[in-house]
Amino acid sequence: MPHNYYSGEKAEIKIDGQVYELPIIVGTEGEKAIDVRTLRAKTGHIAFDPGYANTGSCNSNITYLDGERGILSYRGYDIADLAENCTFVEVAYLLDHGTLPTREELSEFSRMLNDFAMIHEDMIRFFDSYPPKSPPMAILSSMVNSLCNFYPEMTENPLENIDKMSARLISKVRTIAAFSYKKSMGHPVVYPRYDLSYCANFLNMMFDSPVKPYEINHKVVAALNKLLILHGDHEQNCSTSTVRMVGSARVNLYASVSAGISALWGPLHGGANQAVMEMLENIHQHGGDFRKYVERAKDPNDPFRLAGFGHRVYKTHDPRSRIIKQACDDVLDDLKFADPLLDIAKELEEVALKDEYFVERNLYPNVDFYSGIIYRAIGIPTSMFTVMFALGRLPGWIAHWKEMWDDPGWRISRPRQIYVGPLSRPFIPMDQR
Ligand code: CMC
Repeated sequence: MPHNYYSGEKAEIKIDGQVYELPIIVGTEGEKAIDVRTLRAKTGHIAFDPGYANTGSCNSNITYLDGERGILSYRGYDIADLAENCTFVEVAYLLDHGTLPTREELSEFSRMLNDFAMIHEDMIRFFDSYPPKSPPMAILSSMVNSLCNFYPEMTENPLENIDKMSARLISKVRTIAAFSYKKSMGHPVVYPRYDLSYCANFLNMMFDSPVKPYEINHKVVAALNKLLILHGDHEQNCSTSTVRMVGSARVNLYASVSAGISALWGPLHGGANQAVMEMLENIHQHGGDFRKYVERAKDPNDPFRLAGFGHRVYKTHDPRSRIIKQACDDVLDDLKFADPLLDIAKELEEVALKDEYFVERNLYPNVDFYSGIIYRAIGIPTSMFTVMFALGRLPGWIAHWKEMWDDPGWRISRPRQIYVGPLSRPFIPMDQR
């Protein structure tokens, strides 16, 4: 249970000659915050912070991120160690339970994932009603929201059932994701198999077909595990904050995660992995002139941004991007897949990292810059990239929803505003307007 770490020190704020004291909080890694919860009551002023770049919305013991030093850890474990040594299922357990699973715990968790892998047959018919070319993220978000109709017993006493509910969601989202791909292809769905691991099962549901059985490639499975682990959580990002905010109104887990999926869809967030691939494909199709895109990104009159570059929190290399870049080389090597887009991406990165515009603004490649190249190499279509991000981020959303629900300091999320509209005006009847 996260709690506040008051340091005993106070910050002073002076308004109209009067000094007010506000307590200082220090986190376990030394991050400092001013607790402004009494600010309005004491001073009549509120804190103004559009985009929340300076706002801590909660205490959390799930993920630590140091954007200046490029450090990321889940529950105290360095992301590089987890990506190197764990499966995604182990990391999902870690995120949602707080500890790495023992052999027995892992086996019980895997059994639950297996038991919950099917989706209700009536839900499979939902897929038929979406128009062709419906964005998979829209389908995923609505299907996840629909789960609460099929498993309503889960909404009543959520924390009592949370382990079951988490396993159900983690397992079913994988099935929904694979089914949505099959349906988008006009192909029959492939049911989950009890004898396959989480990632192998997903790949089999995606690619097995009555006319061409899918052969499990362990290197592909390992690459997918790594990617999902690296996407597992990222503290209070846009989609996670959405899950927490929606959940703060005491909304069930499915609806909260469904809202998170919608937030992740945006091209400034998880949708960037698809945008990167589209950008690299465009560059490739038009003769490989990536410098033009770098110039466009720098032009203040052009809204274009280099997809997969920049981050609200990282002011140095994103540690995930470094691991993924290395994995890209390994996977393409293993699969003997020569992708010209990888060469373009590397050249583009090199040029951007030396460019004054990017240097001055601390813009580095983020998690989305290289991930799509691996997805492409293992056969995942571009339209599914952000769905893959959602699969990976799901244990993180669940962990945050659970932490928020269990927090004795919980209050409904409800920011304030500074009203800058018209002053009070006399009402004008219709025929006088
Ligand atoms: N290309 C060109 N310029 C950029 C970029 C970029 N990708 N990102 C930021 N800038 C510039 C921005 O124009 C601004 O310049 P100026 O100071 O001259 O106005 C400066 O850098 C600071 O940018 P900001 O918009 O204030 O930064 P932010 O923290 O609000 O936004 C971001 C962060 C990730 C939305 C932004 O960097 C961006 O749009 N990147 C491209 C989209 C992307 O890759 N998103 C994935 C993020 S990581 C994974 C995830 O969250 O899902």
